[in-house]
Amino acid sequence: MVSRKRVFDLLRTINSASCQCPAHGYRGNFQVSNATPDKDYAFEIKCSTVRYGLGVTREVGLDLVNLQAKNVCIMTDANLVNLSPVKAVLDSLTKNGINYKVYDKVRVEPTDTSFKDAIKFAKEGSFDSFVAVGGGSVMDTCKAANLYYCDPDADFLDYVNAPVGKGKAVDVQLKPMIAIPTTSGTGSETTGVSIFDYEEIHAKTGISHGALRPILALIDPLHTLTLPEKVSNYAGFDIFCHALESFTAIPYTERGPAPPNPALRPAYQGSNPISDVWARFCLQLLEKYFARAVYRADDLEARSNMHLAATMAGVGIGNAGVHLCHGLAYPIAGNVKSFVPQDYGSSPIIPHGLSVVVTAPAVFRFTGASDPDKHLEAASLLGKDISNKRRDDAGKVLADTILLYMDVMKIENGLSGLGYARDDIPDLVKGALPQKRLLNIAPLPQSEEDLSRLLEDSLTIY
Ligand SMILES: NC(=O)c1ccc[n+]([C@@H]2O[C@H](COP(=O)([O-])OP(=O)(O)OC[C@H]3O[C@@H](n4cnc5c(N)ncnc54)[C@H](O)[C@@H]3O)[C@@H](O)[C@H]2O)c1
Ligand SMILES: [Fe+2]
Repeated sequence: MVSRKRVFDLLRTINSASCQCPAHGYRGNFQVSNATPDKDYAFEIKCSTVRYGLGVTREVGLDLVNLQAKNVCIMTDANLVNLSPVKAVLDSLTKNGINYKVYDKVRVEPTDTSFKDAIKFAKEGSFDSFVAVGGGSVMDTCKAANLYYCDPDADFLDYVNAPVGKGKAVDVQLKPMIAIPTTSGTGSETTGVSIFDYEEIHAKTGISHGALRPILALIDPLHTLTLPEKVSNYAGFDIFCHALESFTAIPYTERGPAPPNPALRPAYQGSNPISDVWARFCLQLLEKYFARAVYRADDLEARSNMHLAATMAGVGIGNAGVHLCHGLAYPIAGNVKSFVPQDYGSSPIIPHGLSVVVTAPAVFRFTGASDPDKHLEAASLLGKDISNKRRDDAGKVLADTILLYMDVMKIENGLSGLGYARDDIPDLVKGALPQKRLLNIAPLPQSEEDLSRLLEDSLTIY
């Protein structure tokens, strides 16, 4: 029989010889307070299951069989319904004997009115699952249709982000949704976010809750081969800004207060080491493939990598968040006058990626001082030689790098190129101010005057 003292001696020896790293070296010295800290101390990473592969759409029918789906709501838009991505989905469902109905009236850059039309369609069916085949407009519309289908008595504004709506947490069980992105841009396939233009305020807002996140995303690069040049271009700048904004967002330890309940930790938590990995990887892919993907429609390697980059950046923003470019973009898109972009139909719209990137040079000149090293690193990942650059110039260095990309991609010359003038700036600021969820994620606080100056600096950019 070994003595009690001998056992304790042995345990002490094992303990002192064991790993001292933070992961294994815990000695029971830390005190976790019960009080809610002013600043957050934790972050979490959530993501849809993503499956990537050339032609992987052919598996969707079997995925639905595995889910025991019997009646599926397919959502897409009027253009895509005639193209190969939707055909591939329908073939797979037919082959696997799954019943479905197709809603093909999704509006490009959806509004509350177009959301409500899709919700009505969903409520008229008795669906047990949803499949979105399309870009961000389709995926976001499908998320909203699923939500209000599952909570039929909810008022539309109940779930819309505060202060525009009531920002109610989702406590109903949603039906499984599979997302099949056909643009390389939004990353909506990985996020619990659904964005629409709220016509009453001429600005975008959204619904943001983890319950909206698709259970599965099928990332099939084959779908990118039909992408028109401008869609590839503007959606690519959405990826670009997702990566830059999530990388430069306020660190999660600076965002506060910590939530009193982990279920209340916001989706947009601030930059963190895991989101940074996605952002860095994504910036490298953009440096290598962005221009090739835009200008060479048959460059499968470039387009496949952009498709991957979009999902990667989606994981980054879905957890770290985006800030000023997106906050300012929402009224820029919402107040559109007569700008009709090529490849997006005949209605005046400012495609999301364009509305976002147009202020990017001004935004990053402004945020550069918050973390010069990260701004320089981002410029370097995008291909800029930063060896002789001063930390004081970090914002300008990144802004100049962004401008080079915008020039190569023939982006319009600032807000004036999109139909705006100096007189419009007060309205744009008014539309940006309610975007607290985004503005709070910026690495520097901003006054109304700051927002106004960022927009003025974006009137002409070259
Ligand atoms: N939920 C999120 O996390 C999130 C993030 C960023 C942006 N968004 C939102 O997403 C929307 C923009 O989505 P988007 O940029 O993906 O574009 P989109 O869905 O609006 O589509 C743009 C155009 O491209 C066409 N198209 C799409 N895929 C095609 C293909 N493979 N071949 C040929 N044509 C194709 C569409 O028919 C449409 O005409 C905006 O409303 C934006 O606010 C959402
Ligand atoms: Fe975006």
